[in-house]
Amino acid sequence: MASLSLIKISFALSLFFFLLPSSSSSRLSFTTLKNHHQSLTTSYPQSQTERLRSSFNLFPEYQVNIIDNEPGFTPGSLVEKKFSFLAASGSSVEDLGHHAGYYSLPHTKAARMFYFFFESRTSKDDPVVIWLTGGPGCSSAIALFYENGPFKVANNLSLVWNDYGWDKVSNIIFVDQPTGTGFSYSSDEVDIHTNETSVSNDLYDFLQAFFKEHPQFTKNEFFITGESYAGHYIPALASRVHKGNKAKEGIPINLKGFAIGNGLTNPGVQYLVYTDYAVDKGLITKEDQDNINLLIPDCERTTKSCQTNGGDSCLEAYEACTSIFDNILSVAGNINYYDVRKQCEGNLCYDFSNAVTFLNDRTVKAALGVKNLSFVSCSSTVYNAMLNDWMKNLEVDIPSLLEDGIRMLIYAGEEDLVCNWLGNSKWVHALKWSGQKGFESATTTKFVVDGVTAGDLTSHEPVSFLKIFEAGHMVPMDQPKVALQMLKSWTEGKLAA
Ligand SMILES: *[C@@H]1O[C@H](CO)[C@@H](O)[C@H](O)[C@H]1NC(C)=O
Ligand SMILES: *[C@@H]1O[C@H](CO)[C@@H](O)[C@H](O)[C@H]1NC(C)=O
Ligand SMILES: *[C@@H]1O[C@H](CO)[C@@H](O)[C@H](O)[C@H]1NC(C)=O
Repeated sequence: MASLSLIKISFALSLFFFLLPSSSSSRLSFTTLKNHHQSLTTSYPQSQTERLRSSFNLFPEYQVNIIDNEPGFTPGSLVEKKFSFLAASGSSVEDLGHHAGYYSLPHTKAARMFYFFFESRTSKDDPVVIWLTGGPGCSSAIALFYENGPFKVANNLSLVWNDYGWDKVSNIIFVDQPTGTGFSYSSDEVDIHTNETSVSNDLYDFLQAFFKEHPQFTKNEFFITGESYAGHYIPALASRVHKGNKAKEGIPINLKGFAIGNGLTNPGVQYLVYTDYAVDKGLITKEDQDNINLLIPDCERTTKSCQTNGGDSCLEAYEACTSIFDNILSVAGNINYYDVRKQCEGNLCYDFSNAVTFLNDRTVKAALGVKNLSFVSCSSTVYNAMLNDWMKNLEVDIPSLLEDGIRMLIYAGEEDLVCNWLGNSKWVHALKWSGQKGFESATTTKFVVDGVTAGDLTSHEPVSFLKIFEAGHMVPMDQPKVALQMLKSWTEGKLAA
C-alpha cells in the first residue's frame, strides 16, 4: 500500500457556480423551468454533489427550481391547504390534520418556501418539531417518506402508514430549504443562499408565519431536529430563534431544544478523525492511515483560515479536507459510506426514487397545491452555492444556548462514515460551556428500548450524546422504533433516566 497516491479533486467547477447562463438567452415562459447546466467535471470519478445524488438514486430533471416570470409575489403571504393521501384508510381530511403550503419569504426577491405540516396522531399538545434534511440542497421529503414521516411509499407508489412516524409524538413540519430545493422555488437566482445567516433568517421568518397561521400551537414546546448538513442549519436556526425571542421580535417561539443526527457541525474537528474511524471499522489499514494523515496539516491549516477569513479560503479548506475522505474511499472500495456494513450497487447506495416519482405525479402535486414544478430532490445548484459554508464551524453559537438551558441532543448511527459518531463525539466533548467538566465525567449508560440495548448515552444537564447501534447515517430509517423512542424521551426531558 506504500504506493497509495493521494487524490486531489479539481475544484474549478465550484468557482464557476455564479457564471450561470445569461438570462436574456434563456428567458422562458411562465412556469417553464430553466435548466441550469453547469459544466461540472472533475478529475475524480464524480463531484461530491453527483456522488450524493447517485448514492440515493436521485436524478432530478432540473438542478434547481428557478422559474421565470412568476407573477404575484406578495412578501410574507402564506397559502396553506389540507390534503389527504390516506383518506381511504378511514380518517377524514379534517381528522388527519395534514397540511402543505407555500410561504413567500419576505427577505427575498421572490422565493417561496414549501412545507408539509402533520398534526400529531396522538395529541395536539405534543411538541412542535421542525425537521431539516441536509445535502445541502436535499428535500426534507426524502426523510418524510423514508425516515420519520407519517407514511412511506410502497413500490406500487401507494402510501402506507409508518408505525414509527415522528407525528406519533409531535406535530411535525418538514421544510424544503434552502430556496431551490424540493418544491421550494424562486424566480430570481439571487435568492440562492450562500451562508447560514440568510438560511436561518428565512427559516425564522417561516416559523413566525407558521405560528401566526397556527396560533393554537404557539404555547407548545418547540424543538429543531434534522440530519447531516443540518448540523450546520440547526445551530444557526436555534441561535436565530433564541435571539429573536430575547429581542422580543414577533411571536415568541417556545424553543426547548435542538437535535442533530449524524451531523456536520464542527468540520475542523470532524475531518481529523475520519481515518481513526476508518481504521476502527477495518476499512483501511494503519499504514493507509499514516499515508492519508499526511493530508491532515493542510486540512487543519485551511480550515482555520476559512474560519477567520471566510470566502474562497473556505473552498480551499473543503478541497483539502475532502481529499482525506476521498482517499479513504479509494482504499475502502465500493462501500456504502452512509452505512459501512453495506456495499453500494453501482453508485447506488439507496433507492429513494419512488418518493420522487410519487411527488412528481400531477394529482399529488395538485393535492399539495404545487403548480407546474418539477420536484428537485437534491439540488446541485443549492449544494454548490453553499460550498463556502461547508467548512465553517457552527458550534460557536451553541454554548450561549446551553447556558440558557436549551437542550442539545447529538445522536449518531454508529455505522455511518460520512458524519461518523467519533467526530461528533469529539466536538461535543471539546465544546466549551459551563458544564463541560460535568459532561466529561458523566458515566455512559445504556439506552434501552423495549428491553433491548439500542445505544450508548452520555448526558449532563442540557447536553446528551447518543450513539445508536446498528444504524447508519439515517437513524430513523435504520432504527425507526429506537429513533421514535429517542425523540419522545428527549422532548419529554426523560432521555437520561
Ligand atoms: C401496494 O403495496 C402495498 C404495500 O406492499 C399493499 O399493502 C397494497 O395493497 C398495494 N396496493 C395495490 C393497489 O396494489
Ligand atoms: C450571506 O449572504 C447574503 C446574501 O445572500 C449576504 O448579503 C450576507 O452578507 C452574507 N452574510 C455573511 C455573514 O456572509
Ligand atoms: C408544465 O406544463 C407543460 C404543459 O402542460 C408540460 O409540458 C411540462 O412538462 C410541465 N412541466 C413540469 C415541470 O411539470
